[in-house]
Amino acid sequence: MKTLIKNGQIVTAVDNYSADILIEDGAISLIGKNLSGLIDGADKVIDASGKLVIPGGIDPHTHLELPFGGTFSSDDFKTGTIAAAYGGTTTIIDFAVQYRGQSLTEALDNWFKKAEGKPAIDYSFHLIITDLPDSRLPELKNLILNEGITSFKLFMAYPGVFLVDDGTIFKAMTVAGQSGGVICMHAENGVVIDVLVKRALAEGKTAPKYHALTRPTKAEAEGVHRAIAIAEMAECPVYIVHLSCYDALKKVQEARDAGLPAFAETCPQYLFLDYTLYEQEGFEGAKYVMTPPLRDKWNQELLWKGLAGNDLQVVSTDHCPFCFKEQKELGRDDFSKIPNGGPGVENRLSLIYNGGVAQGRISVNRFVEIVSTAPAKMFGLFPRKGTIAVGSDADIVIFDPDKEMTISARTHHMNVDYNAYEGMTVRGVTETVLSRGKVIIENGQYVGAPGEGRFIKRGTYGGK
Ligand code: URP
Ligand code: ZN
Ligand code: ZN
Repeated sequence: MKTLIKNGQIVTAVDNYSADILIEDGAISLIGKNLSGLIDGADKVIDASGKLVIPGGIDPHTHLELPFGGTFSSDDFKTGTIAAAYGGTTTIIDFAVQYRGQSLTEALDNWFKKAEGKPAIDYSFHLIITDLPDSRLPELKNLILNEGITSFKLFMAYPGVFLVDDGTIFKAMTVAGQSGGVICMHAENGVVIDVLVKRALAEGKTAPKYHALTRPTKAEAEGVHRAIAIAEMAECPVYIVHLSCYDALKKVQEARDAGLPAFAETCPQYLFLDYTLYEQEGFEGAKYVMTPPLRDKWNQELLWKGLAGNDLQVVSTDHCPFCFKEQKELGRDDFSKIPNGGPGVENRLSLIYNGGVAQGRISVNRFVEIVSTAPAKMFGLFPRKGTIAVGSDADIVIFDPDKEMTISARTHHMNVDYNAYEGMTVRGVTETVLSRGKVIIENGQYVGAPGEGRFIKRGTYGGK
């Protein structure tokens, strides 16, 4: 099967030029000017005149069908990956969870089963580790070296559920560091937060806004500082997930200025939404109960500066949707029982293009870098994914930089009854999406088949 994309403006993290792309057997085989004249018999020709042709988005932080707070996040591997495709994302890295007493392999097998036959786009897993006796350390090493699972998430928050102690963090980081793995850290001082939560509830403070008021920015900054210090002692690269505020960003900046392999992502919710949403009437604030919580608005511009200056490398979504009517309701009388997380996998590219490129905060190359190339490099997918180059998978998005859309739960494809960005008009819309050369979104309609997405074995950390 030969597909030709002609007349588009190809944008990668470093290039911006007009050329045609030939795709054969799922990969890019040729890039050049006026290829139509040279090629006879392309099976499909896509005219990308006036459009950007960019590498498919890579969202390295999703939670599909995640068990949390007595329920499951409402998108599964079918609905969540179709929604991702609509928004121009062609690869996700989801989080498999190891529960206490389970082997790492058993945990991963459960997530492979969850995904079986469903993904519309390519996928991989990070593994959340909750239980790591010394006897499991060789298993960790084996996953990195032989199974293509090269990144692991550890939690400093949620005591009794996900939290692991500093000794466990140090041991996991030591093995990961020696084997080419990366540790992703949920960096918040969960022990202090637990005291604040119990204190608030004892004082009758049960409304959603207390979720934010019991998770101060200092608790996040302390976690980031500790994660980076332990990683330095263990000689391991560390990637801070869902960084939400300037207090935490300063700790990453300090580490990077000192030359340490410390990296961080932020998410659209921290760039566009703020604490005042918790102050809305009634239970409305529950829609934004996610961890870390939304912060004061002044943090946003500093996070954009962090993205522009490469103190933040990636924008992921932390897509973890729970329906407002049935699931967020679980915490109506107690904010600590509201399932944590919000939707976003479908809206990431448009939001970041609009807020970043259209509003002059970052270049179009930097846009491609933070939504695709940097996560590919960070998590062992590059150059197979994350760029447009001969030999790379033909995961390609044809993106209309001039078209506008208004985000709404009425038109989105995520399986959740609200959209965190409801009513926001954005410039920059995904029009056509190819996954390994096959068109899966055509003129804004899904034309693929769930189950066509493949598990991708990832490479080790190469020093970025
Ligand atoms: O609120 C969030 N972020 N839910 C998902 C779990 C996590 O910590 O990433
Ligand atoms: Zn987390
Ligand atoms: Zn998450």
